[in-house]
Amino acid sequence: MSIGVFDSGYGGLVVLRELVKQLPEYSYVYLGDNARAPYGTRTPEEIYQFTLQAVDKLFAEGCELVILACNTASANALRRIQQHDLLRYPGKKVLGILVPTIEQITGLPWSALHPYPQAINIGVFATQATVNSHAYKTEILHRNPQAKVVEVACPELATLIESGADEVVLRDYVKQCVDQLRSELPDVDAVLLGCTHYPLVLEHFVSELPGIPVFDQGQITADALRAYLSNHPELEKRLPREGDWRFLTTAEPELIEPLATAFFGLPIQYEKVVLS
Ligand code: DGL
Repeated sequence: MSIGVFDSGYGGLVVLRELVKQLPEYSYVYLGDNARAPYGTRTPEEIYQFTLQAVDKLFAEGCELVILACNTASANALRRIQQHDLLRYPGKKVLGILVPTIEQITGLPWSALHPYPQAINIGVFATQATVNSHAYKTEILHRNPQAKVVEVACPELATLIESGADEVVLRDYVKQCVDQLRSELPDVDAVLLGCTHYPLVLEHFVSELPGIPVFDQGQITADALRAYLSNHPELEKRLPREGDWRFLTTAEPELIEPLATAFFGLPIQYEKVVLS
């Protein structure tokens, strides 16, 4: 029994990298739907159907808990899966990465009633589908009505990263996205990379946003998982401490292994799976 980690492609490897570093005792099964990535330009219904297929697959592979390490899937599919589809899987859980990220950037836990939230200007970079859902803006404002949130879609960025684009191309694209944010929110206080692919070009965001904290989701998700497991001992007890990892993909393994290995930082060998 393992912890499943799902992303449309490579981005979730950045989250998994942090999970295996912080919580190495557990076993993980990573699934990337590389053959159908990117998800960010798809409709909410497609994103839901594909994410559900991935969750079904990870449960069939023996996962007790699945983390959607993909903002696009978390924003467009998580609630529906939790409310309807999990009824077929008593005792199993699916978690997303939006809530822990929002807790971190607002400094407010989900349930907090904070009488004097600080005025803060937050920029969110994400895929088109995540921006269209306005999940980040809605949830941040729900906790901190004084915040000003500007969401900027970076529709090409996940594809450029997935295709292994040249650093100059990536830097120029990131600069365009940052320029757009600055034109809408000149005095930005904090920036959130609301797509798990974007930490792969973190250095470009940091150099375009000097002195501004840039939040990424690897560490945040590891902290959230640790807290979740300590609050759910009945689930934690069912996770064997074998510390092994498997990697599943819908694409041809040999085509994606070199880039996946570069992103994960350790050699990866994928098994090909079919989702339906
Ligand atoms: N990594 C995914 C996310 O966090 C999305 C990239 C894509 O498939 O468009 O949103």
